[in-house]
Amino acid sequence: MITGTLKTAKSEEIFAAAQHLMPGGVSSPVRAFTSVGGQPIVFDRVNGAYAWDVDGNQYIDYVGTWGPAICGHAHPSVVRAIQEAAEKGTSFGAPCALENVLAEMVIDAVPSVEMVRFVNSGTEACMAVLRLMRAFTGREKVIKFEGCYHGHADMFLVKAGSGVATLGLPDSPGVPKSTTAATLTAPYNDLDAVRQLFETNPGEIAGLILEPVVGNAGFIVPEAGFLAGLRELTREHGALLVFDEVMTGFRIAYGGAQARFGITPDLTTLGKVIGGGLPVGAYGGRKDIMAMVAPAGPMYQAGTLSGNPLAMTAGIKTLELMRQPGSYEHLDRVTSRLVSGLLEVAKETGHAACGGSVSGMFGLFFTEGPVHNFEDAKKSDLGKFGRFHRGMLEQGIYLAPSQFEAGFMSLAHTDEDIDRTIEAAKAVLSKI
Ligand SMILES: Cc1ncc(COP(=O)(O)O)c(C=O)c1O
Repeated sequence: MITGTLKTAKSEEIFAAAQHLMPGGVSSPVRAFTSVGGQPIVFDRVNGAYAWDVDGNQYIDYVGTWGPAICGHAHPSVVRAIQEAAEKGTSFGAPCALENVLAEMVIDAVPSVEMVRFVNSGTEACMAVLRLMRAFTGREKVIKFEGCYHGHADMFLVKAGSGVATLGLPDSPGVPKSTTAATLTAPYNDLDAVRQLFETNPGEIAGLILEPVVGNAGFIVPEAGFLAGLRELTREHGALLVFDEVMTGFRIAYGGAQARFGITPDLTTLGKVIGGGLPVGAYGGRKDIMAMVAPAGPMYQAGTLSGNPLAMTAGIKTLELMRQPGSYEHLDRVTSRLVSGLLEVAKETGHAACGGSVSGMFGLFFTEGPVHNFEDAKKSDLGKFGRFHRGMLEQGIYLAPSQFEAGFMSLAHTDEDIDRTIEAAKAVLSKI
């Protein structure tokens, strides 16, 4: 196990070179550590609950490639299945029986999904579902919640969460006003605000999309009655309810948030876990709505690599592992142990903090709380989070490099890992 000071010479060298090759030296913004400061760590390999960097440091990893590594990194049966599938070719661009297998698994598990379309990322799934909401209802306006992130399609880059919040950009240059004009926003957990939007835009709202548990404004849970209230309001106004379960799907329960909370939306987007670490997204829902999608219907959407055998295989193997008895009980148990341990040491060391978890997804804010929405989340002490993050890295613990991201647990994390993490947090929190 690693102790003491971090060697970073190789990470620094690679990242310095990367700055000349890719904007900000990365392929996705949060990885650059902009919001926590300091040198990003360049990974060399990952296995189980651990990551190793190019300087040879080992970390307990709570990012899990931002959610997909729910069985642990490089799970042997997932890796073997991908190798075997690759022998038969990496992409067909033609129907493939594996698509049926994964589609059936998704349909069986996720209450709202009667039919599904595979795409290549969560962004793509959310972009397509928005088009489908509009195509089906013949209405243009949609509601999203402040701090919820649905990928980087133009229509969603209005006070979006996650990367955009982290970089302090309320919006993004390059997004035409016309594309966001029909995107209405409300604070999370605020049913009255949603009611008002429906009242002031009668017959114009196609639907609303939300993260049923937020992971992109930090970790925020829906208050009692919030999801049920949205279900009622959308029905009342002839609008569609869409759960963006790219993060929560097959993570907070096998059937996602909708199974866990017993609220069935009309449409659902998925990603991350269903690709087992390869690029996959999906959208699905009621058959009468999905019948609009080309070629069954007139709403166009397509993809060269969609449904490719490698991604389907990784997803199938991952879901097979996750449906084994005890998987979610393990995630529930170790994650709640971690969070209560972290909150306890924060209290002992005199830091205002709040947090929580739902199964294998968790978060911790450096504010007294409670955190019900993005405005509350922004009260968190970001400077302190940056110092905590760096201190934890030094201790061999890899946390998401932003206060506005959730943490992810895997089946590979052990009680020993949790104990070590809490011990490390105690050491760091007593110094910062
Ligand atoms: C809830 C949610 N929706 C959509 C996305 C976008 O997915 P992707 O990064 O695969 O495009 C993310 C990514 O983190 C997400 O968390």
